[in-house]
Amino acid sequence: MSPYLLTRTLPADAMSSALRRDVLRGLGTDPKQLPPKWFYDARGSDLFEEITRLPEYYPTRAEREILIERAPAIAAATGARTLVELGSGSSEKTRHLIGALADLRTYVPVDVSESALTQAGQALLADHPDLAVHALVADFQNGLVLPDAPGPRLVAFLGGTIGNLLPAERLTFLGAVRALLSPGDALLLGTDLVKDESALVAAYDDTAGVTAAFNKNVLSVLNRELGADFDPDDFDHVAVWDSEHEWIEMRLRARTAVTAKIPALDLAVGFDAGEELRTEVSAKFRQDGVRDELAAAGLDLRHWWTDGAGRFALSLAFPSD
Ligand code: SAH
Ligand code: AVI
Repeated sequence: MSPYLLTRTLPADAMSSALRRDVLRGLGTDPKQLPPKWFYDARGSDLFEEITRLPEYYPTRAEREILIERAPAIAAATGARTLVELGSGSSEKTRHLIGALADLRTYVPVDVSESALTQAGQALLADHPDLAVHALVADFQNGLVLPDAPGPRLVAFLGGTIGNLLPAERLTFLGAVRALLSPGDALLLGTDLVKDESALVAAYDDTAGVTAAFNKNVLSVLNRELGADFDPDDFDHVAVWDSEHEWIEMRLRARTAVTAKIPALDLAVGFDAGEELRTEVSAKFRQDGVRDELAAAGLDLRHWWTDGAGRFALSLAFPSD
């Protein structure tokens, strides 16, 4: 049996001080906003997995289709011995990649959700007893350091999670990923593509209400972590397409005027009736935009693969110098 290692790269209180900072900053501005990483406690990770099985939520199925078809080409182009996956979640789709990478020795899943990492690691090791799994509880936007592992290394960032970063954050993030790569290493990037507004809105406002529960889960995180007294029933789930920025925005809209107390921050936050809190952007991409963003970070787009219906793309990029 190969080793399973889980490393918490952050000091014990780092996430809670980051949450405090983000809440102070984000609920003190107009319009109010929070970064989407706070969705993902154990319940949020479970709800996301439920979202991936919804009929309206096509990105997971579309990306899986590409991975199944292109995993052999990805293996041939990279010869990866180490696979690092950022925001790995359940690692479920990654299994297609792991199965195809004949020289793979080490898998490094990186996620803020320890529960997702632990569940995924156990399931993977049962099927791949020879794979060394070194899980990292870490924020991929904040000083990511990878464990020593043999190259070539393939860094995968799947699911379209890059779209949950704002454009300036994406530039910083891709630059940091580029800095982790040595010659011969590669980045595999999943991006959801611009498409018909009705299909996009349906994917983020499903009829079963799972995305609404996922969105409201951030309030439960604030209640538990900061002693806040948000009532999720005081808010409606909202998903809108912003055609200027080409992203979906998820928001929580106050049904009436409400005030929430956040004792850990010695704060009371007032919402007017109808006032919205932006909880996530989910940007949708075009090939030229992806190529340009990669190039700006010193990465050269070599392969662009889409699913049969052209809904989602996987890009394979290598350091350009
Ligand atoms: N890659 C998986 C999961 C996508 S959900 C898939 O394609 O299905 C997004 C994942 O990224 C979640 O597991 C979440 O916990 C993680 N995540 C979000 N922001 C993060 C951050 N800043 N640092 C590390 N992990 C993050
Ligand atoms: C993880 N990320 C790519 C998802 C997305 O589609 O933006 C998160 C999500 N938000 C609502 N549904 C799913």
